[in-house]
Amino acid sequence: MAVLFRPVVPVDYSHWSPVLREMLDPYDLCIAPEEIDPARVTYLAGWKLFPGDATMWPNLKAVLGFGAGVNQYVGHPEFPRHAALIRMIEPGLSQQMKEYVLSYVLRFHREHDRLRDLATGPWNSTIPRPARERRIGIMGLGEMGGACANALQQLGFPVLGWSRSAKNLPGIDVFSGRDGLKPFLARSDILVCLLPLTKETENILSSHTLGHLPRGACLINAARGKHLVEEDLLPLLDSGHLDQVALDVFREEPLPPAHPFWTHPRLHITPHLAAVTCPPTGGRSLKNSIDMIERGERPPGWVDLDRGY
Ligand code: NDP
Ligand code: OXD
Repeated sequence: MAVLFRPVVPVDYSHWSPVLREMLDPYDLCIAPEEIDPARVTYLAGWKLFPGDATMWPNLKAVLGFGAGVNQYVGHPEFPRHAALIRMIEPGLSQQMKEYVLSYVLRFHREHDRLRDLATGPWNSTIPRPARERRIGIMGLGEMGGACANALQQLGFPVLGWSRSAKNLPGIDVFSGRDGLKPFLARSDILVCLLPLTKETENILSSHTLGHLPRGACLINAARGKHLVEEDLLPLLDSGHLDQVALDVFREEPLPPAHPFWTHPRLHITPHLAAVTCPPTGGRSLKNSIDMIERGERPPGWVDLDRGY
């Protein structure tokens, strides 16, 4: 039984290899696929699939994704259908996502960009809008969205959520399913997208859906680039329907240098680093998944391949 870890960039190797060696003891960890008998590989760990994965590992039990999102595996022709898919759930990821989302919500809520401009003019006193009057709508109430919803609620914002299934979360106004989308959007002053990318959620941020937001709303997309119909965004910003937008993810990554998003003054870009799996806690989660599968149990993060997340 062996775990084959496949780094995709040198930094993966230097950050992860020592941690995995320590944490995955007593499992046999291998980094070089050419040095291992494919029949011994029971777990594939890393960020993506490689050519031949569908058939190369006859005794594979699971693909262990290092990210929270699994859209790069689901439906991929190289996905080994005899194996399970487990995504990353670890506290470092949700903590970082919470920090990312809160930092933009507060920047937009307290109008930091406008205050910077006001500082050079006459210093008139204005009363900031209270948090209780800024409604935050979170699309996706899972590991990421749930953590953000709780933190925002503690800061005094009214929080709404939208999920696939109905839920009862104390203090959070939850909408669900397609019927719940329009009323949810109509009440969201700052919309945060933390959905997984699936057939149902692709292109969900379009002029049609974003058009239901109150005028002057803000948008934060830290989920996947394909959630957003990119050509719809700048007209919504230019018309004032959207006030500020923060994007961490894009259809093409890195965002091409000539992309019009770079130059819009009310569009804030980060390089898909809202939350990154952390070596100690992520390694522990990986080990826990393997231990549970070895005991015949389903670990947290078990992906429903039909549902797509
Ligand atoms: P989870 O699987 O824990 O949560 C997904 C949530 O989305 C659930 O609440 C689910 O509803 C809801 N959902 C799924 N499909 C639909 C739908 N069709 N309509 C309405 N709601 C839906 O995922 P995570 O919170 O762990 O991660 C979410 C995404 O965040 C990841 O898939 C990834 O793309 C992105 N991400 C981005 C990072 C970055 O650095 N930019 C870092 C980490 C994650 P229900 O509860 O009913 O199942
Ligand atoms: C993830 C990501 O899915 O980094 O974890 O985007």
